[in-house]
Amino acid sequence: MKFLHIDSSILGGNSASRQLSAAIAGQLSKATPGVDMVYRDLAAEPLSHLTGELFAARQGAVPESPAMQKDVAASQAVLDEFLEADIVVIGAPMYNFGIPSQLKSWIDRIAVAGKTFRYGPSGPEGLAGGKQVIVVTSRGGLYGAGMPAAAFEHAESYLRAVFGFIGVTNLEIVVAEGLAMGPEQREKAMQGALKGFTELRAA
Ligand SMILES: Cc1cc2nc3c(=O)[nH]c(=O)nc-3n(C[C@H](O)[C@H](O)[C@H](O)COP(=O)(O)O)c2cc1C
Repeated sequence: MKFLHIDSSILGGNSASRQLSAAIAGQLSKATPGVDMVYRDLAAEPLSHLTGELFAARQGAVPESPAMQKDVAASQAVLDEFLEADIVVIGAPMYNFGIPSQLKSWIDRIAVAGKTFRYGPSGPEGLAGGKQVIVVTSRGGLYGAGMPAAAFEHAESYLRAVFGFIGVTNLEIVVAEGLAMGPEQREKAMQGALKGFTELRAA
């Protein structure tokens, strides 16, 4: 059983999504003896932006510079890591209504035609099914259905779209929100998110 744990928050020890993703990854790995765990910190070791040269290398172009060769190898490693994982836990805070750019660079490495999706006569087909993905998202405000800011939510909805597109049907989203609305609300939201995750497993 291969387990991939990813964090993308820039807030280090103060990060809510890191705290939650660590608790969830810990729970899951405890429940699965002999799990092969890989951890990737996208803030500590950021991936570069996707470039034309990198994109061309996916289509068979040979990268010329040593720097690009290194980038191509790193991209391949990220893709392989994702493809090999049975369970993926992703810490994904909301920044400026979307996901951190560090996480977007990771998405740009795993959304690869011919590997995780393909287009056929009937449209797009996801190729990355068969794995479980758990997204842990944290946000300062409230974006649930019926809230005035619901239409500004582009982190959770974006990740749902991307993972759906590449064929992940076993997707769970854990949300802690209203974290900027005072320490009490923060504590309640953090505990509630973890409790919800744990109760769902016990059910
Ligand atoms: C750069 C930055 C941008 C943010 N943008 C938003 C935002 O658009 N909407 C929101 O509700 N909260 C926003 N927040 C608050 C974060 O979503 C909140 O602090 C959350 O806990 C971040 O997760 P983290 O602690 O794991 O980094 C932002 C925080 C930062 C640092």
